[in-house]
Amino acid sequence: MRKKVVFVTGASGEVGQAIVKRLAEEGNHDLLTLDLQSLPEALQSLVTTHIEGDILNNILLARLVSEYEIDVIYHLAALLSKSSEFAPDTAHEVNVEGTLGLLRLAAEQSQWRSKPIQFVFPSSVAVYGLPDPESKGLYKRVREWEWNQPRTIYGCNKLYCEMLGSYYSQHYRQLAADQSVLIDFRALRFPGLISAFTLPTGGTSDYAPEMIHAAAQGRPYKCFVREDSRISFMTMPDAAKSLVRLAEAPREELTRQVYNVTSFSLSAAEIRDMVLKYFPEAEITFQPDPKPQAIIDSWPADLDDSAAQIDWGWEPTYDLERAFSEYLIPNITERYAGESGGA
Ligand code: SER
Repeated sequence: MRKKVVFVTGASGEVGQAIVKRLAEEGNHDLLTLDLQSLPEALQSLVTTHIEGDILNNILLARLVSEYEIDVIYHLAALLSKSSEFAPDTAHEVNVEGTLGLLRLAAEQSQWRSKPIQFVFPSSVAVYGLPDPESKGLYKRVREWEWNQPRTIYGCNKLYCEMLGSYYSQHYRQLAADQSVLIDFRALRFPGLISAFTLPTGGTSDYAPEMIHAAAQGRPYKCFVREDSRISFMTMPDAAKSLVRLAEAPREELTRQVYNVTSFSLSAAEIRDMVLKYFPEAEITFQPDPKPQAIIDSWPADLDDSAAQIDWGWEPTYDLERAFSEYLIPNITERYAGESGGA
């Protein structure tokens, strides 16, 4: 008998680590994890098996399904927006081909069971693309179907993968006599994410977590976007919570396959002001770099997540005040205790 598992790709990444912790806390899942990197030591005892490998390795994936029955897939492996701009072909391979390979595998595996395989996918604010500051000022909180005109290859990759997932779950081989594929695809569009425990690599919204972590370490920080740059954010525990809540929601209550989620919208100056409240000595200056600035300017100031609130009761645990006072500041301060700086 193959062992039934929840499969997490990109498990050693920022969202991956948070979801592994969250699923382990629930305690009722055997976790199979995959990443190019080893799993951080603190997480190793939480998973049944960790495989160090590439999602593009189809032989490895075929071997995994011969040993495990995959019930749910959290597909988190991806290159973020800035990294993707430096290597658009690689971004396409990892972000699109990687997702397509897993969808194919889920479609094939679904033939062996009577219950759908659930495929949970993190998409991004990067799927939106506002063409100019006037539009960004006018359309402050975008709905899921508005402004789907990404400026980055990462945004294009994510938008296409949302469509692929929807296609595989609703219309795959729609002209075939026997259409027995069962994939239950669900996606979230995340805003910028901020973790107290990890730092992102290669994202355009990285200035927010970088500013906070630098202040806690007593290091000066030069922010690469203007003070008035505004997008929305959410804490990492809320990102994990939203993915798990979406996965748990009864299918019949979902009116969409892709949902916005968010917590608070902040300008870069407002992030600095929050940081100064807790670290009054922090040295934060602004030296906008026009290229990442143009990407941030194309992302909406806020996301309208009312569909998620109505359909599956989405509510973040951390609003702005609690995010800083209860999650970020205590954990970040403890993390860098002993180094210079600290609150
Ligand atoms: N935080 C991501 C990035 O900046 C967006 O999803 O790439």
